[in-house]
Amino acid sequence: MTEVDTSRARRLKAATHGVHDGLDQAIMKAEPFASRDAYAGFLRVQQLFHLDIVALYDAPELANTIPDLADRSRYQQVCKDLADLGAAPAPEDDQPRFGAGEPVDAPTALGWLYVAEGSNLGAAFLLKAAAGLGLSAEFGARHLAASPEGRANHWRSFTAALDSLDLTADEEARVMAGASAAFSRVRSLVDRTFWPGTAAA
Ligand code: HEM
Repeated sequence: MTEVDTSRARRLKAATHGVHDGLDQAIMKAEPFASRDAYAGFLRVQQLFHLDIVALYDAPELANTIPDLADRSRYQQVCKDLADLGAAPAPEDDQPRFGAGEPVDAPTALGWLYVAEGSNLGAAFLLKAAAGLGLSAEFGARHLAASPEGRANHWRSFTAALDSLDLTADEEARVMAGASAAFSRVRSLVDRTFWPGTAAA
């Protein structure tokens, strides 16, 4: 890219391209759609990631930044997906990254939310793969479903809100750092779920 992108969301995409690519490859190497058992491992990764951020969806610091924020959490859907499959959830031993009722640094949180929201945009492809295991938006792959307003609209309303925020350079850097941290967290969850004993997580 030769020019500085005026969209914060696109800058985030460019800044995290490498780590997203590495994550995609790590997930696909684990072949999460080879069997329902393997897919349950992928669900446990999602469970712990969405648990990390579940407190953000009703954090007062973010209430006026993102439209329909409270409805965007997918933690409950992931839990239902595990229950549909009769699969055990992961032990929730780690302290969630954002604790319920704790003060939230909004720019950092927005970086994490960018990763969670973006993963739903990419999830169209994953939902198709899940169909091969007999799973759907109504059973086992609820968290991969598009929102009622449509995947693209849901993403656009998020990125429009993100792009319209007036942030200082320091706040901007915290958004970027939040997104990188979120990707790293998911990557470490993938590594320890699918290759326990080899990950640094
Ligand atoms: C939990 C794991 C994942 C996370 C956290 C994640 C995160 C993201 C994010 C943040 C975006 C938005 C990029 C942007 O436009 O700004 C995205 C898009 C995308 N992701 Fe992922 N992703 C994950 C897994 C995967 C996997 C396994 C694949 C496929 C191998 C994948 C394929 C895609 C694709 C194709 C898009 C672009 C969708 C589009 O532009 O229509 N992602 N993902």
